[in-house]
Amino acid sequence: MQLNAPLDMHLHLRDGEMLENIAKSSAHTFSGAIIMPNLVPPVSTKDEVIAYKKRIIKAIGHEKFTPYMTLFFKPSYDKAFLESVRDEIMAIKLYPAGITTNSEGGVSGFDVEELRPALSAMSDLNIPLCVHGETNGFVMDREAEFVSIYEKLASAFPKLKIIMEHITTKESVAALEKHKNLYATITIHHLLITLDDVAGGMLQPHLFCKPIAKRPEDREALLQVALQAHPKVMFGSDSAPHPKHAKEACGCAAGVFTAPIALQLLAELFEKHNALDKLQAFISTNAQHIYKLTPLAKKVTLEKKPFKVPAEYNGVVSMYAGEEIAYSIKEITYG
Ligand code: NCD
Ligand code: ZN
Ligand code: ZN
Repeated sequence: MQLNAPLDMHLHLRDGEMLENIAKSSAHTFSGAIIMPNLVPPVSTKDEVIAYKKRIIKAIGHEKFTPYMTLFFKPSYDKAFLESVRDEIMAIKLYPAGITTNSEGGVSGFDVEELRPALSAMSDLNIPLCVHGETNGFVMDREAEFVSIYEKLASAFPKLKIIMEHITTKESVAALEKHKNLYATITIHHLLITLDDVAGGMLQPHLFCKPIAKRPEDREALLQVALQAHPKVMFGSDSAPHPKHAKEACGCAAGVFTAPIALQLLAELFEKHNALDKLQAFISTNAQHIYKLTPLAKKVTLEKKPFKVPAEYNGVVSMYAGEEIAYSIKEITYG
């Protein structure tokens, strides 16, 4: 089967040595990706976005992948600043303070009036807002509790495109239907696993991420919209590499690394559910419409041939490391 211009609408490429070690896995099979800004310190000025994009392109070493850049949301962004940076970015990412990896400088309180200047300006300038939607409540309830904040923002800024990132619950799926301006990304791991896979047996640190995988009925709701390629959902891997020692540790870092196997796993999953004809929309066309982007031409051919996932990719352990998956990448062509 062939995929046209696969897009990853939520990706962590990190910086420094990690960037050098992992960027090529995404650039190999994807046409482009939305690059998350949660570096230390976060990407929050025009110069930082431009410099980070250059480092990414250098680490990749070719032009056959487009990094779509983002800024780390701050309520202090004003219209003049946003106008000046508009052409360098595809979106702005909002993190609740302290809720996930490197989000300490994020937002707390979610007071609409405090957020109004920045969010109105983004709405006027057609800059989408990507959100990590979790409260600091009980871990299994954080995303469902955040839905009321999504709804408050969606109503207060009806022209602002709000993307609910890496959704994991049936409540978020339901919110998609209620507000015209709410969209979502879904990861491959949240389509495959539940909390049982993370903590039901021996603890699996390489499946630990934020938001944590939820209940079977939540996964079912995600599968429903992904497999029909609901026009408001897109693939976003949230591939979030951490060094092996930071995952296999007392105090395991949150994040699942899936970039090198994401397309193969999606093909296997969509085939299993007789939905291979919907994968193109989920992996690219929906995102093109939502973000109004034209991706770089790239065709990825997958074949149903077992692939043994390596134990490590340059010091990073991916999902299903050492296991066999059903699909392999056969060929990649450009133009
Ligand atoms: C991400 C990371 O490591 O940067 N971790 C994660 O568990 N998903 C941050 C994020 O996307 O929330
Ligand atoms: Zn997140
Ligand atoms: Zn993420």
